Amino acid sequence: MTQGIDVLLKEQRVFPPPKEISEKAYIKSMAEYEAMYKRSVEDPEGFWAEVAEQNITWYKKWDKVLDYDFEKPYIKWFINGKLNASYNCLDRNLDSLRNKAALVWEADDGEVRTYTYWQLYREVNRFANVLKKLGIKKGDRVAVYLPMIPELPITMLACARIGAIHSVVFAGFSAQSLRDRINDCGAKLLITANQGVRGGRIVPLKANADQALEGTPSIEKVVVVKRTPNFVDMDPQRDFWWHDLINDPEISNYCEPEVMDAEDPLFILYTSGSTGKPKGVLHTTGGYMVYVNVTFKWVFDYKPEETFFCTADIGWVTGHSYIVYGPLSAGATSLMFEGVPTYPNPGRFWEIVEKHRVNIFYTAPTAIRALMREGEQWPYKYDLSSLRILGTVGEPINPEAWMWYYKHVGRERCPIVDTWWQTETGGFMITPLPGAMTLKPGSATRPFFGVVPRVLKEDGSPAGVNEGGYLVIEKPWPGMLRGTWGDPENKRIKEVYFSRFPGKYFTGDGARVDEDGDYWLMGRIDDVINVSGHRIGTAEVESALVAHPAVAEAAVVGFPHDIKGEGIYVYVVLKEGYEPSRDLEKLLISHIRHMIGPIATPDKIQFAGGLPKTRSGKIMRRILRKIASGAIEDLGDTSTLADPSVVEELVTGRK
Ligand code: WTA
Repeated sequence: MTQGIDVLLKEQRVFPPPKEISEKAYIKSMAEYEAMYKRSVEDPEGFWAEVAEQNITWYKKWDKVLDYDFEKPYIKWFINGKLNASYNCLDRNLDSLRNKAALVWEADDGEVRTYTYWQLYREVNRFANVLKKLGIKKGDRVAVYLPMIPELPITMLACARIGAIHSVVFAGFSAQSLRDRINDCGAKLLITANQGVRGGRIVPLKANADQALEGTPSIEKVVVVKRTPNFVDMDPQRDFWWHDLINDPEISNYCEPEVMDAEDPLFILYTSGSTGKPKGVLHTTGGYMVYVNVTFKWVFDYKPEETFFCTADIGWVTGHSYIVYGPLSAGATSLMFEGVPTYPNPGRFWEIVEKHRVNIFYTAPTAIRALMREGEQWPYKYDLSSLRILGTVGEPINPEAWMWYYKHVGRERCPIVDTWWQTETGGFMITPLPGAMTLKPGSATRPFFGVVPRVLKEDGSPAGVNEGGYLVIEKPWPGMLRGTWGDPENKRIKEVYFSRFPGKYFTGDGARVDEDGDYWLMGRIDDVINVSGHRIGTAEVESALVAHPAVAEAAVVGFPHDIKGEGIYVYVVLKEGYEPSRDLEKLLISHIRHMIGPIATPDKIQFAGGLPKTRSGKIMRRILRKIASGAIEDLGDTSTLADPSVVEELVTGRK
């Protein structure tokens, strides 16, 4: 958990919604929210039918809104409804928004490329035809390993157009991670770039992809976007340039969208859990589109003339839902940024806000903390008067960072929506509505419509007011995962999400509810570390470590980190014949970066003679977490350990 509950219990500041926001908002008051919320949970089918009808265009309406059983589990929304996600993001906007900017792309070096709805539509149609020509059909998986360039959303929408399932792999992942994901979903085609550009540095994407493709029998062809002028190896049988394919005069400008069932898969996105390898979270078309569309509009209170800037990478769910599918289906102008917040200087975000007159800005607490450290002079160098709504996502935001964001970026005018959600939930779950909620720094406030969260104690009974517990969701919502790839009977999701408290969706997060009914998220309570808003499974890092010849045993835990939220703390027991050294430490770090990617780089490595284990051989992570966080006076009961003396050695050797 990233923050002490006692600090948050003392947080008393409140910020009611500004009048000028409430007056024009979709949801104008707490009374309105409460009435709508009540209806959404008492009559979910009626509520969601109305939302789906008003916000999404269907080829054919559904026969039944919802069918589910959380015990099995299975979840189906808008049964037999037919639609196409790309049609909803593009075609239907052409009449009224043809010349409105759909995507504004700001490159790492400041270059800008804008796609109107018409231009984006044209590119997507052409690339959809390219995909068909390459033999891709409905239901095929397409792996996407692209940096933050317009070809990424174009690829996603082109896949959606022909019914292919995209699986975007964050461009910061290693060749090994890319290979695992391609093999898990059996992708036929890979879309990548020769290189990426981030913070003035080159990312060797095609070289990584080539390495990954040494062990991916399902991949038949590769499409390569030329992001930089630099040379890369191209296999003439397998690799094709994007520009050659899309500019082929034989490619037509129109591709009829595939009529998709509401429950046909839209995409797979891999995410880390507490056990084993990352899981391919599966989202389907109807429920997901309804959910991201309406959460986008209502939570950001999006108005037609506004520019929305989400700083996430599309390689994560935040980019899928709130750079691509939510904003575009709502006819918004979505700004995507290729670079990093501190390049060429820590004013970059604010420069972009000023330059494009951004109205709604959505980022992560880790970015806010990093910029906070650079000093408040940076946001004051720019004209931020266009900003109206701010948002955060990815981890609990500490009140200090919230206040900095509120004062120096929002200039005390802009509500902050602290949106709690997950890859699995598809869209926002607990979040303020900016015209209705009274904000408290550090609280995500209330559940979105139709979302029924509960905080439970260990034994499944409800936690009391301000009592921390396990956050679960009792009822289905349209944007939720339908399963994980490769598990048609949903055995895996049953075990991971629906067994800890049978019949309820287990989030993996801790939370408490205060006396006003507001939710305070307390961080992961499973073996997932949240590093700068990115989920890293401790099991993944451990298995990477033990794959190294020097390592006999490894245990990985999170510890509080000022900027990242949580850092990665590694305990390593070496094999006979290996000695701890700074060089070996460096070697292990580069081994992990190679196996997983730079996001899994350990912050601290401690060589240990042994790990604290129970007599039955179970590693006592509780103790390791305490040592890592420096809480050594308070190690709790160590009497059940097989060998209590290891603890002393670990405390002395603490990093
Ligand atoms: C954490 C990102 C507190 C949480 C959308 C969750 C948050 C995990 C918040 C999901 C928030 C996300 N407050 N914690 N506003 N938003 N989290 O799947 O631990 O990458 O379970 O989805 O991030 O991370 P994921």
